[in-house]
Amino acid sequence: MEITNVTEYQAIAKQKLPKMIYDYYASGAEDEWTLQENREAFARILFRPRILIDVSKIDMTTTILGFKLSMPIMISPTAMQKMAHPDGEYATARAASAAGTIMTLSSWATSSVEEVASTGPGIRFFQLYVYKDRRVVEQLVRRAEKAGFKAIALTVDTPRLGRREADIKNRFVLPQNLTLKNFEGLDLGKMDQANDSGLASYVAGQIDRTLSWKDVKWLQSITTMPILVKGVITAEDSRLAVENGAAGIIVSNHGARQLDYVPATISALEEVVKAARGQIPVFLDGGVRRGTDVFKALALGAAGVFIGRPVVFSLAVAGEAGVSNVLKMLRDEFELTMALSGCNSLADITRNHVVTEADKFG
Ligand code: FNR
Repeated sequence: MEITNVTEYQAIAKQKLPKMIYDYYASGAEDEWTLQENREAFARILFRPRILIDVSKIDMTTTILGFKLSMPIMISPTAMQKMAHPDGEYATARAASAAGTIMTLSSWATSSVEEVASTGPGIRFFQLYVYKDRRVVEQLVRRAEKAGFKAIALTVDTPRLGRREADIKNRFVLPQNLTLKNFEGLDLGKMDQANDSGLASYVAGQIDRTLSWKDVKWLQSITTMPILVKGVITAEDSRLAVENGAAGIIVSNHGARQLDYVPATISALEEVVKAARGQIPVFLDGGVRRGTDVFKALALGAAGVFIGRPVVFSLAVAGEAGVSNVLKMLRDEFELTMALSGCNSLADITRNHVVTEADKFG
C-alpha cells in the first residue's frame, strides 16, 4: 500500500521491528500524557488563511546559523539508529544532505562522528550529552569539530533518564552487536543489562547531574562551534540561554521522554520566543508530523523545526529512501500549506495566520 503521510511509517515499523526496539523508539515517559499532547496541541491551532495572493512561486529556503537550507525542517538527534536499519546514521545523514537540510547526530549514535562525516558533504550538528568525565566530553567535542560538524546541540533536559515504563518492562539494552560508536575507544560504548532499563542505568552511571549554566560557558571555552541549548520550555530559561551566550534555543521536551506533564512544545514555544526577544533563533521539536505543523510553529515564532521519531520509523521501513520520503512528504505538505495560506516565503508567515486557544480564551 502506498504511504501518503509521515505517520503511516509508525505502524509498519511496529510490524518490522523487535518489540524491545520499537517500544524504545515509540514510547514516552510515565503516563505519556505529554506524548499525546505534543500532537493534540498542534490540532488545536487553526489557520487564518489569506486568499487571492499569487502563490505560483513558493520559496521555502532559509538560513540557519549562516547555513542556507532548502527548507526549515531539520533532523533531531535520535540515538542508536542501527537498531532500526543496518545503515543507521549513514542513511539519515545521506537523506538529510540530499534534501538540503541538517542532520543532528546523537552522542549515542551507533556510528561515530568520523564515520558520519565520511558519508560525504552535508551540514551536520552534533548533539552532546555531558559525561561526568569531562575529558571524555572535551575529546568528543574536538572530534566532532574536526569531523566538520557545525554546531553543538547541548541536551539540557536529561540529568537523569525519564521513566519510560516500556523500557523497564523490556529490560531495554543496546543489542550486543552494536556499540555507542563515539565512545568505543573510551570503554563507554557498551550498555550493561540491568534490572530495569539498561539505558537508565547507563545514564545514572555516566551522565553528569551537576550540569549547570556555568558548564555552558565551559563548553564555549573548549569549542568555537555555536551552542544550541536543547530542552528549553520556559521564558525564564530562554532568558538565561541568551545571557549565557547560546547561539540558539531548541524548545523540546525530548519527544515527551523525560518529564511527563510538561506542556506540548508548540504550547510553550511562544513564551520562549518572546523571552528571547529576537536575540537568538528559537527552534522546536516534538510531534511535528505534518507540513501544517511546520507552518504553525513558524507562525508562532520558530525559525525552524526538527523531527525525531519519523526518522527512525521510516529508517526501519525503508532505510535511506524512507528518510528521504519523510523529508519530501513534509516539504511538499509545507509548500502546499504555504500556498493555501497565501504565503510565498517564510517571511510572509505571520502570527495572524494562526489562531490558538490562548487567542480565543485570553
Ligand atoms: C530521542 N531524543 C534524543 N534527544 C537527544 O538530545 N539525544 C538523543 O540521543 C536522543 N535520542 C532519542 C531517541 C529516540 C528514539 C527518540 C524518539 C528521541 C529526543 C529527540 O531529539 C527529539 O527531541 C524528539 O524525538 C522530538 O520529538 P518527535 O519528533 O519524536 O515527536
